[in-house]
Amino acid sequence: MSDRVPVLTIDGPSGAGKGTVSRLLAKRLGWHFLDSGAIYRALAWAVQSRGVPVDDEEAVTRIATEMVLEFKFGNGVQVWVDGKDVTDHLYTEECGRVASRLATFPKVRRALLAKQRSFRRPPGLVADGRDMGTVVFPDAPYKVYLDASPEERARRRFLQLKSQGLDVNLDQIIKDLEQRDRRDRERKEAPLIPAEDAVIIDSSELSVEEVTKKILALLPGDMAAPSGAVEPR
Ligand code: DC
Repeated sequence: MSDRVPVLTIDGPSGAGKGTVSRLLAKRLGWHFLDSGAIYRALAWAVQSRGVPVDDEEAVTRIATEMVLEFKFGNGVQVWVDGKDVTDHLYTEECGRVASRLATFPKVRRALLAKQRSFRRPPGLVADGRDMGTVVFPDAPYKVYLDASPEERARRRFLQLKSQGLDVNLDQIIKDLEQRDRRDRERKEAPLIPAEDAVIIDSSELSVEEVTKKILALLPGDMAAPSGAVEPR
């Protein structure tokens, strides 16, 4: 049944604009939204807060299986792990780095599959990540791979972190981004690559609105018609 629910997958490297565009699309379509990176980040938080070594695949997999993860949609999205709101801890460079390391473990990825697939509910799902179109929802009817030049991605990340009042250094961001790209692309299990049937969009020179329009144009006209201001479900 759930495999008849339409899914729009948006994969790509860090800083390509997936998060902003995916949220906007979910809102326009009135569909559910999956931020799969937040699941890996929540796991990173859970592993670190329990003092488990990040290279212990078995222990990390156990936490991935046991942790109670909830997304609460209200004013923005909040991520709760084991009854605690951890949202404010997730979007640091450090958490992204650890998430990317844990994401190389095949058993961890498998342990998180069912959780991600459970987001597929009517009327539809916008799924943001690295392997949404290749592994998690290979039968999704609409697939996008959103890319941008490394310089532009680093610039966006820099501005984003700065706007959050963080003390950031562009050179360090470029280094972090390169390292994370390499790890996400070169891992054996579910590496970051475009699905064969994905439409590749380079957002380097495009505004959020332009990217959103290009993606909406891939959907049948009646689906893409603005449905009013609907919060992502
Ligand atoms: O999208 P993000 O920056 O929040 O993701 C953090 C890390 O999680 C990313 O560097 C790799 C991992 N990740 C993944 O392996 N697969 C996904 N579908 C989403 C994220």
